[in-house]
Amino acid sequence: VEQSYIMIKPDGVQRGLVGEIISRFEKKGFLLKGLKLFQCSKDLAQEHYKDLKDKPFFPTLIDYITSGPVVCMIQIFVILSCKAWEGVGVVASARKLIGATNPLQAEPGTIRGDLAVQTGRNVVHGSDSPDNGKREIALWFKEGELCEWESVQTPWLIE
Ligand code: GTP
Ligand code: MG
Repeated sequence: VEQSYIMIKPDGVQRGLVGEIISRFEKKGFLLKGLKLFQCSKDLAQEHYKDLKDKPFFPTLIDYITSGPVVCMIQIFVILSCKAWEGVGVVASARKLIGATNPLQAEPGTIRGDLAVQTGRNVVHGSDSPDNGKREIALWFKEGELCEWESVQTPWLIE
């Protein structure tokens, strides 16, 4: 099952946007499989963003992500047997809801387009590929923290 790791960054928590951001994924019809408030270490932040370690902004990115608690989430589509839904999996679909990296270029209606102004304070993270979704979930969650459950909404979301 394709899964996306979504994380509300410390600015989203500090600005009181946790409910608003979770609500967007709930309303879309994603199924929440894991959720926690968490203060992460520098090591974990560096491992999470290791592909960016040579970028000039890497140290400030690590300071930003570790500057306060984040909210860690796992989102999946409700059709458990289905890898992709109408050609788009949960990973790509979540990235669309989140919007472009630079919030000033993100479309209105997206989380970053509606709620943020600067790349270095763009309130939310979403996995950029199904493989990275797997990698990130293994990094941020332990096995006992995930919930297997079914939503009563399913028959009202999928014909
Ligand atoms: P994530 O979902 O957080 O991974 O963002 P993204 O996939 O849209 O962008 P990317 O993975 O390229 O960058 C990761 C994060 O690094 C961004 O979300 C920003 O918070 C930060 N970042 C990227 N580019 C810049 C930059 O030019 N300046 C600063 N200050 N931060 C940046
Ligand atoms: Mg990224």
